[in-house]
Amino acid sequence: MSVQKTIKLNSGYTIPTIGLGTWLIPSSAAPSVVYKALEAGYRHFDTAIYYQNERAVGEGIAKWLSEDSGRQRSDVFYTSKLWTFDTYARAKKEIEAALGEIDDTLGYIDLLLLHSPMGGPTARREAWRALQEAVESGKVKSIGISSWGKHHIDNLYEWDGFKIEPAVNQIEVHPWCMRQELTDYCKSKGIQIEAYSPLAHGEKLRDPTVVSIAKKYKVSSAQVLIRWNLQKGNIPLPKSSNIDRLRSNLEVYDFELTPDEVEKISHPEVHEPTDWECTGMP
Ligand code: A2P
Repeated sequence: MSVQKTIKLNSGYTIPTIGLGTWLIPSSAAPSVVYKALEAGYRHFDTAIYYQNERAVGEGIAKWLSEDSGRQRSDVFYTSKLWTFDTYARAKKEIEAALGEIDDTLGYIDLLLLHSPMGGPTARREAWRALQEAVESGKVKSIGISSWGKHHIDNLYEWDGFKIEPAVNQIEVHPWCMRQELTDYCKSKGIQIEAYSPLAHGEKLRDPTVVSIAKKYKVSSAQVLIRWNLQKGNIPLPKSSNIDRLRSNLEVYDFELTPDEVEKISHPEVHEPTDWECTGMP
């Protein structure tokens, strides 16, 4: 099963199939981590207002872009997320804030997500109205959702102001938190799955099945878990601030798990998110 390095979203834009998660990378370190990640081959960065490092991530990208006239802004994919969007006005303000953080470095946001389904149906729809307007303004290219369950998605699609489909749903996905029903549902609607915490926060790297498959291919457990997500058709967003681990996490395009190995690694019988769980919220 070959895995492409980039794929096309339902918005028409191209996204690299691995992104660097930047949660908990402090602003002081982020420019250098992001710059080194670009040197290592990363072209996709995932941040959020909540992470408080958007400006620093943008600075790392801008420094790398400025060093070679052959590098273009469109070579790099930058995602952020709105945190507070209880009213339309608040969502508008948050969008302006997210844009303000990268206005002088990146100029536009490739993908802007609602960080969670919190706030209820009216808040979600009003925030979506604001996001749709941001796309119309040209400052945001694609919009999406994060940690949304099926009923949140259905509720948005039923709204008469609904014009732009979410390009992605970013949720925690790994072999111990597969969310098969939800991922299938999103795929049936053309919504791409982005998988955060694809390494289960590093908690499952000693799993005996993963370790033995890693040995077979002479790769690390982390590489096996990242490859598992890629072969599921998802976009994994592994986090690391260590340059060696970060580099090896990207070296997953030249080995392939057999269907039998994918199944052996999978644990559809358990549901063990390592982070918050809000797909069931009202
Ligand atoms: P570090 O930043 O020190 O590399 P997830 O992406 O599932 O949330 O997991 C992130 C955690 O996994 C972090 O603690 C990160 O630590 C660790 N990690 C990332 N890549 C690797 C790797 N290749 N090997 C071991 N641990 C890793």
